[in-house]
Amino acid sequence: MPMEWKPEYSVGFDRIDQQHQELFHRFNSLMEACKSRQGRDKLRELLQFLDDYVVSHFDEEEKLMAAHSYPAIAEHKEQHRIFCRKLGDLKKILEEEGTSIHLLVATNEAVLQWLIQHIRLIDTALGAFLQNKR
Ligand SMILES: [Fe+2]
Repeated sequence: MPMEWKPEYSVGFDRIDQQHQELFHRFNSLMEACKSRQGRDKLRELLQFLDDYVVSHFDEEEKLMAAHSYPAIAEHKEQHRIFCRKLGDLKKILEEEGTSIHLLVATNEAVLQWLIQHIRLIDTALGAFLQNKR
């Protein structure tokens, strides 16, 4: 079942929401590819995408937090660092094993957890805070 981005995940900034939607879309296309047994090709593509995505997307969120003196900035940034480390581990597996099923499962788990926990809980908390600042 595809992971759907819902308006309740909105952080109230279009650019950030669009970036989140892009991640949902990328994840869903990996899942689609798995169904047709093309997951391993898509997997490399997703990891390459995530490499750029985490830098630009996290940076943008962190600048927003700093600009508005968000009180939970340290915790939020730590969550970003955790995901970056996870991505580093996944890339290491890619180098060592290629697009293995093990890597597919680990990537699926990491990104799914990210979609569910980070965007839905951590980023929406930031969104709620920013709403009151406008
Ligand atoms: Fe975030």
